[in-house]
Amino acid sequence: MNKRETATLLTHAAEMAMRYVSEASERRVAPAEAALAALQRFHEPFPESGCNPEEVLAMLDEIGSPATVATTGGRYFGFVNGATLPASLAANWLAGAWDQNAALRIMSPVAAELEEVVIRWVCEALGLPLDCHGGLVTGATMANFTSLAAARYALLAREGWNVVEDGLFDAPPIEVMVGAEVHASLLKALNMLGMGRKRVTLVEADGQGRMRAEKLPKLSPRAIVCIQAGNVNTGAFDPAAPICDAAHEHGAWVHVDGAFGFWAGASPRYRHLWNGFEKADSWATDAHKWPNVSYDCGLAIVRNGEALRACMGISAAYLSPGTRREPMHHTPESSRRARGVEFWAALKSLGRSGLAELVQRTCAHAQRFAAGLRAAGFDVLNDVVINQVLVSFGDASKTQEVIRRVQEEGTCWCGGTVWQGKTAMRISVSSWATTDADVDQSLAAILRAARGSGD
Ligand SMILES: Cc1ncc(COP(=O)(O)O)c(C=O)c1O
Repeated sequence: MNKRETATLLTHAAEMAMRYVSEASERRVAPAEAALAALQRFHEPFPESGCNPEEVLAMLDEIGSPATVATTGGRYFGFVNGATLPASLAANWLAGAWDQNAALRIMSPVAAELEEVVIRWVCEALGLPLDCHGGLVTGATMANFTSLAAARYALLAREGWNVVEDGLFDAPPIEVMVGAEVHASLLKALNMLGMGRKRVTLVEADGQGRMRAEKLPKLSPRAIVCIQAGNVNTGAFDPAAPICDAAHEHGAWVHVDGAFGFWAGASPRYRHLWNGFEKADSWATDAHKWPNVSYDCGLAIVRNGEALRACMGISAAYLSPGTRREPMHHTPESSRRARGVEFWAALKSLGRSGLAELVQRTCAHAQRFAAGLRAAGFDVLNDVVINQVLVSFGDASKTQEVIRRVQEEGTCWCGGTVWQGKTAMRISVSSWATTDADVDQSLAAILRAARGSGD
């Protein structure tokens, strides 16, 4: 393609994307059956010869766009998926054109610089020490992995064991404590680190999923205590202050899985929930959830930067160690995309007050849902402390039927779960784009599905 053809192609891509963005809040949230069926058209034998990029793009828009889930509109309440802020999306386009490899400063000075800025801004917003270190990863799963790798390294190093050099064979055992309502991805991170899902001690949790601090077993200096800021079902926060105090008294490491709840700490109104979490040793969070940064973007923050670099850093003759922070020495990946660009754009466009307001607004929407569901006589199972609502419409089959109808009808999208033995519909308000009108429209659709599903 010559320059003019390339410019035309990019203009067409921008037009398609703008149309998609403007329609996302109007269309049904889950794709229609016909759109799903059309995906079969992608399944052709690997073409012998190439295709004009204009045709490639047209096919992607024609088949791909309708088969997306409209998570960027205001009526997607599934999982804890954030939308994308306009500044983040726009930055994503520009960053796509830049196509930077964020591994090393010399490969991308701008990527390296923006990473430093966002990590510092996040620490400022959350009241974490400004000399913490961090890395931008795919999501909270890898942020948990990265932080826990640093924890494992630091605790074993204190015992005189270098896990980077000597591995885990014959290493002094590490003990790991997690709450009974730990997120499954944290267990996956432990398993990838050779610390075994079944080897953990499960600490009793209460009816909201909060770890019971008084049930923590006796801690040793070789213990990692994993606590949660925001349970994926209820949004509940573990009692961080007493847990951190008890753990640190014995030299243990406290790690926080704050995939989305972390961001409540950026809001003066919800700051009380964050109380004590700032005392931890490491934190994992997602920027693609509550802050509405484009997918994918997670963040690991570790107080002990030396431990992080010891287990994530690599050296080779052709890799200069650099004199400043080098991104690749803080994450499992070496080559990777420049996630800091969209992250910076989102935070710069929001500012501290905008971030707090985003948290508060989405929590208010969750309260609006809960009030409407209670008023209609349905059982809200959780204390709606942040942006998560769990609602039961009766027994398991009735609730599952309501969820099925809601998803099929298309006004909004909510998923299901089983909370401490009870089947529930989960409503997670994580999109900047959700309005009061979206909540009312979605509530009406949910109530129609509930009333129409029979008893
Ligand atoms: C508490 C918690 N931890 C970890 C994760 C995993 O996040 P990701 O899918 O971004 O890796 C989630 C996802 O919802 C979560 O809620």
